[in-house]
Amino acid sequence: MEEVRGELRDIVREARVMLTRARELGARGPVARSPAPAPAVQPAPVTESSRSARTLALPGFEEFASNRPAVPSFAPDPVAITFEPRADLPLTLPELASAVASCRQCGLCETRTQTVFADGSPTARLVFVGEAPGRDEDAQGLPFVGRAGQLLNKMIAAIDLKREEVYICNVLKCRPPENRVPAPEEVERCRPYLEQQISLVKPVLICALGLSAAQALLQTKATMSSMRGKTFFYRGVPVIPTYHPAALLRNPGLKREAWIDLQRVRDLLRERNESAVAS
Ligand code: URA
Repeated sequence: MEEVRGELRDIVREARVMLTRARELGARGPVARSPAPAPAVQPAPVTESSRSARTLALPGFEEFASNRPAVPSFAPDPVAITFEPRADLPLTLPELASAVASCRQCGLCETRTQTVFADGSPTARLVFVGEAPGRDEDAQGLPFVGRAGQLLNKMIAAIDLKREEVYICNVLKCRPPENRVPAPEEVERCRPYLEQQISLVKPVLICALGLSAAQALLQTKATMSSMRGKTFFYRGVPVIPTYHPAALLRNPGLKREAWIDLQRVRDLLRERNESAVAS
C-alpha cells in the first residue's frame, strides 16, 4: 500500500513538472500559482525542463554526477545588480565575522555555543544560504557540517564543484534551541549580516536551501512548492530556491526535484561562462 502511495506521489509530482513546463511554453494551465514576492524581487521565467525530469537518476545524489541533460537558455537579469555594502557594518568578511561573533541582537546569543558565520570561498560565484546552525554547527562553528551538510557536499559535488569553491552561510548565525524554525524577529535582527555577506562576496547566483532561506532572501511568505522550479532575483542576483538537505534526508522522494534545481544552478553558472571561484 505504501509503495502504491509512493508511486501516486511520484505521478502527481511528474504531472506538476509537466504542467509547469506547459505554462513555461505559454500553454494555458488551470492553476496559476505564483509566490507573492516583495517588490524588490522579480520572478523570471521558469527554466525547468521536462527532459531533465525524464533523465533523472534516482534516488541518491551520488548517481547524479553522470546524468547530464541539455543546457537550458536563461533569461537575463531583470534589474541591475546592486551590491551596496552597508557603511554601518564592517566592510570585510573577517571583520563582519568578528562583529557577528559578539552579536547580542536577539535571545539566541544566550543559548548559542558560538556563532556560525560561513564556510567556503569569499570570492565564490555561487552562494548557498541555509536556515540556521544545528547542533553540530553550533559545536564546530561551521555551517552544514552535520548530516545535512554531508548531503549538501554531495549536492555540490553533483554539480561539479567543491565545497571550497562555493560560499555557504545561513539566515541565522546562531542555533535556535531544539533546531526550531527561526522566529521572524530573529530573521530581521540577523538579516543585515546576511545581506552584508552577500554584498561582500558578490555572487552571480544564490541557491536558497529550504523555505526559511527562500522566504528571508525574497521577503515573501510564499510556499516552497510555489517557488521551486522558478528563478527570482535578490538585488539583481538570480536566486534558485530548492529543498533543504534536511528535508531531502527526511523525504528522499524530493531529491528528484532538487536535482532539477541543482542542474539549473549548474547550467546557469556555466551559461554565464563563470567558474565558481574568481581567479
Ligand atoms: N541546517 C542549516 O540550515 N544550516 C546549517 O548550517 C546546518 C543545518
